[in-house]
Amino acid sequence: MSVKLLLSCLLLGEVQALSGRPCSCSFIFRRSWTWNFWHITDLHWDHTYELTDNPELVCESSGTSPAANAGKFGDYACDSPWNLINSSVYAMKEILPDPDFIVWTGDDTPHIPNEDLGENAVLSIVGNLTHIIQQVFPGGYYTEKLLSRTGYRMLVLNTNLYYDQNKLTVDMEDPAGQFSWADQVLTDAANDKEKVYIIGHVPPGFFEKKRLKSWYRSKFNQKYLDLIQKHHSVIFGQFFGHHHTDSFRMFYNSKDSPISTMFLSPGVTPWKTTLPGVVDGANNPGIRVFEYDTQTLLVKDVVTYYLNLTRANVAGGRWEKEYRLTESFKVADASPASMHHVLERIANSHCYLQKYYEFNSVNYDLTECDSNCRTDHVCAAREVDFKMYENCLKEGGAAAIHGGWLPILSVALSLVLVSR
Ligand SMILES: *[C@@H]1O[C@H](CO)[C@@H](O)[C@H](O)[C@H]1NC(C)=O
Ligand SMILES: *[C@@H]1O[C@H](CO)[C@@H](O)[C@H](O)[C@H]1NC(C)=O
Ligand SMILES: *[C@@H]1O[C@H](CO)[C@@H](O)[C@H](O)[C@H]1NC(C)=O
Ligand SMILES: [Zn+2]
Repeated sequence: MSVKLLLSCLLLGEVQALSGRPCSCSFIFRRSWTWNFWHITDLHWDHTYELTDNPELVCESSGTSPAANAGKFGDYACDSPWNLINSSVYAMKEILPDPDFIVWTGDDTPHIPNEDLGENAVLSIVGNLTHIIQQVFPGGYYTEKLLSRTGYRMLVLNTNLYYDQNKLTVDMEDPAGQFSWADQVLTDAANDKEKVYIIGHVPPGFFEKKRLKSWYRSKFNQKYLDLIQKHHSVIFGQFFGHHHTDSFRMFYNSKDSPISTMFLSPGVTPWKTTLPGVVDGANNPGIRVFEYDTQTLLVKDVVTYYLNLTRANVAGGRWEKEYRLTESFKVADASPASMHHVLERIANSHCYLQKYYEFNSVNYDLTECDSNCRTDHVCAAREVDFKMYENCLKEGGAAAIHGGWLPILSVALSLVLVSR
């Protein structure tokens, strides 16, 4: 409710700005037990972005593909120009100026070869981004606020250590000792009756847009799963990025009950991925508010805002509400049990699947999600475990979830269901 009012105020603000009158937002109220925080991720600032007549010279991050529709706020072939970064941070300020904290899960640099970037460029990119966030949200409380309240803890993991491209960690069992450290932190948290949020960049499991594409080495994927299964009773949310898409991952116990959810928030960069096998994998820029219960840390709702990049380049940068989780998927909150219902709806109803699919690319790809697409998305969300994911694929994604979406198919597949 409060966010809706804020947004209408935002739109009103634009109209009134044109006529020179200030926007009055005094009617905004906030339900006292619900607090909120921003999650932004994958800003990927491309400092080389420049509007020129030659589409091949607009930005380095487009590689060999032309930036055919380049405008002030960017191009789907490029990483974010400064105007898009600036617009996203100011949109955050207008939509929700006073969050409890901001979760910012990395990927700041453009997709250009490392040798073309260098350490100084990386540092100055991180410096510039930190600067604008600090300028717009003075106080610099990105992830710290939670830490300063007794009983609540933010566990920040560097999961880049588990990346299968990371040659430095290939022979290690526990890079930087992070798993044993996290195990200790979570054990202490349970003893101290603390509640924990986990944030990181690269998620475990699979990329929902490319079958069998995972990021972690297998042993690290297993260790991550073990960590969550062991400590789920103190973990109230996991917030990651990296995919640039909007999705989520479910964690279950050995009895198949949902115990935790990892939210994968969409990126600010619209950059079309060059991962072979992904067709037209761009997205609209997205930013996200999580509403949570201050006492229990239960995630109550997720509200995603986005910029229609095509329209923004023509008509100016106006961020809009894309969707509210509980409204769009008809669930009570964003608890693991509710997110399991969301997944069941996606798996069993084409209407929900299609809705989820359009949100997945932040309203960029509005084509139909067919049964192959459904299998990829459902299995990636349902199974973080490598082996279970492969089994899910074999079963066409249907057997993993009760009550198939085609009635006839569901009868045939219910035989397979017993095996789970
Ligand atoms: C950033 O965005 C704000 C709000 O739209 C605008 O007032 C400001 O001029 C922008 N700054 C830059 C450097 O684009
Ligand atoms: C980035 O930071 C450098 C050094 O502070 C500054 O000179 C430059 O203008 C900044 N760029 C932007 C786009 O803010
Ligand atoms: C984005 O804007 C373009 C241009 O105005 C429009 O054609 C398209 O339908 C919009 N997309 C969405 C999801 O609203
Ligand atoms: Zn990224």
